[in-house]
Amino acid sequence: MADITLEGVGHSYDGGRTHALNPMTWTWSDGRAYALLGPSGCGKTTLLNIISGLITPSQGRVLLGGRDVTGLPPVARNIAQVFQFPVLYEEMSVYDNLAFPLRNRKYPKAEVDERVRKVARLLGLEEHLRRRSRRLDPGRQQIVSLGRGLVRSEVAAVLLDEPLTVIGPALKWTLRSKLKEIHRDTGHTLIYVTHDQTEALTFADEVVVLKDGAIVQSGEPAELFLSPAHEFVGHFIGSPGMNVLDAAVERGIVRVGSALVGRAVGDDGALPDGPVRLGVRPEFVRISPFPRSPGLRAGVTGVDRMGSYHLVHARAAGGDLVAKTDPGEHGTAEHLHFERAYLFRDQIRCGTLAALEGSGA
Ligand SMILES: Nc1ncnc2c1ncn2[C@@H]1O[C@H](COP(=O)(O)OP(=O)(O)OP(=O)(O)O)[C@@H](O)[C@H]1O
Ligand SMILES: [Mg+2]
Repeated sequence: MADITLEGVGHSYDGGRTHALNPMTWTWSDGRAYALLGPSGCGKTTLLNIISGLITPSQGRVLLGGRDVTGLPPVARNIAQVFQFPVLYEEMSVYDNLAFPLRNRKYPKAEVDERVRKVARLLGLEEHLRRRSRRLDPGRQQIVSLGRGLVRSEVAAVLLDEPLTVIGPALKWTLRSKLKEIHRDTGHTLIYVTHDQTEALTFADEVVVLKDGAIVQSGEPAELFLSPAHEFVGHFIGSPGMNVLDAAVERGIVRVGSALVGRAVGDDGALPDGPVRLGVRPEFVRISPFPRSPGLRAGVTGVDRMGSYHLVHARAAGGDLVAKTDPGEHGTAEHLHFERAYLFRDQIRCGTLAALEGSGA
């Protein structure tokens, strides 16, 4: 097992006209469970296939434990990969399918049996071991594919490309926690590709967010929620996503339209004057009967009752916002208070919003 390092790795499918993956330098640490999260077409599969060796990148080097494997085919890399749809020998039994990657690498017979039974037990396949794979429903076939990816103990990494797409929602939860259990047991590096934030946040030690072929942020789930480094992370993670208002910094004060909403605190010292975007997650918008800094005057326009919380819609000078509140907290109050708000320039976070001095807040 080893770190996987991408050194200036980039990829173009059209001879350099466009990049599916912008050149990046990045290390996947040994033994960690990663989720690679991003919208359709952002380059997740391309990145995974470069790591496994199905694609040779148009530039850069792939290192496995410091060894350059850029030119090596998948079999020489010792990496297991699970795809979106089942990849099985349909005429073989479930047992033989699970045993195949082990027999191929000359594992002793007793160990083959032990490992096959262990994976089958974890994935709930025990009673299907003797069945021909063709006879299983597609969901169960995919679970066998998953088992094939997880059965070997000595792999450097297991890469999973949206592996639970064909599985129903109830079983998805079970399998995700099984995957976590298997990861704790084997200590493999796992990279799990998904475009579903819930899947990413519940599964991973670290979530890597990819957008338009570039990594925009990585971190623990809570970090991405509490401290988005890029506007996109604010939108893509969270439900609903972050509210964004056009604003401007003038001599250290943040304005939305003519309203002074708070004081700008630059992430790297003072923030130069100019346009910014103000981002506030719905969870950090409080509805208040009186002005409270940092915040903004606004009128409530509607409430969605969601059961355990309410989504309160409000209209302010700079646009519409949503607040996620406890049931009962809403009302017709005229002010929004921001408990935690960020400033962005060119999509990148550049600061936070603080109370105006002398505001009494
Ligand atoms: N074989 C190919 N030839 C040409 N372009 C490709 C090829 N495979 C992918 N692309 C393009 O490269 C970009 C990244 O595709 P990729 O499949 O890596 O994205 P993805 O994040 O896995 O998307 P999805 O969530 O839909 O699976 C897309 O613009 C896609 O159209
Ligand atoms: Mg894909």
